[in-house]
Amino acid sequence: MKKIAPSILSADFSRLGDEVREVEEAGADLIHVDVMDGHFVPNISVGLPVVRALKGVTRLPLDVHLMIEEPERYIEEFVKAGASILSFHLEASKHLHRTIERIRELGVMVGVALNPGTPLGMLEEVMGEVDLVVLMSVDPGFGGQAFIRSSLDKIRRLKDWLLRLGLERVLIEVDGGIKLDNIREVAQAGADILVSGSGIFGEKDRKRVIRMMREKLEDL
Ligand code: DX5
Ligand code: ZN
Repeated sequence: MKKIAPSILSADFSRLGDEVREVEEAGADLIHVDVMDGHFVPNISVGLPVVRALKGVTRLPLDVHLMIEEPERYIEEFVKAGASILSFHLEASKHLHRTIERIRELGVMVGVALNPGTPLGMLEEVMGEVDLVVLMSVDPGFGGQAFIRSSLDKIRRLKDWLLRLGLERVLIEVDGGIKLDNIREVAQAGADILVSGSGIFGEKDRKRVIRMMREKLEDL
C-alpha cells in the first residue's frame, strides 16, 4: 500500500504536537521530519530536540530526512532521538557504504536521497544496500515549491531499474511539491511513499485532504 508522509516543515511550530496528532488521527502513515543545516541547503530548520519531542507525541514512525553536510557525524544521535527511517543525501556524504552500514547497524531503515539534478546512475554501487531511495522532486531547502515535472520520468526509470535488478523490496519515496492534484500520477509512476508538506499542513482541513489523497491512491 502507498504511504502518505506529511512533512512537518509546513506545520505550525507553535503547536507542533497538536499538528502531528491531527495528521496521525487523519490517517497519515509516517511523519516526515526535514533537518536542514544552512550549508547543504540554504535554510535551517529543526534538529535533534524536535525529533525527540515528536517521539513523545506520536506512535507513527519518524521518517527523518537529513539535508546536512557530513551526515555521518549525526547518525547515532538521530537514531537515539527516535528516527525509524534515516535518509541522508548522496551528495553530502563521501563514503556511502560506511554511512549506510552505520545506520543499518543501529537497526533503523536506511534511505539515500538524491537532488533533482543528480543522475540516478550515482546510485549504482549502493542500490542493493538501502531500504529506500528518496527522490527529491524540488531542490531541497524550502516547503511550498513547485513539483519538477521531469521527476515523473526519473521515478519510472528508477522503478524499472529496481525491478530489473530484482530489488523490488527497495522503496521509492518522493519528496517535494506533492499535492492532491498530482499525488496520483506520482504514485502511478512508482512512488511508494509520498511526502507532502504544504499540500497537507497548508490546508485547513487536514482530515479531509488526507482522506482525499487516500482515495486517489486507493486502487494503486
Ligand atoms: C524540501 C523538503 C520537503 C518539503 C516538502 O526541502 O525536503 O520534505 O518539506 O514540502 P512541500 O510538500 O511543501 O514541497
Ligand atoms: Zn524532506
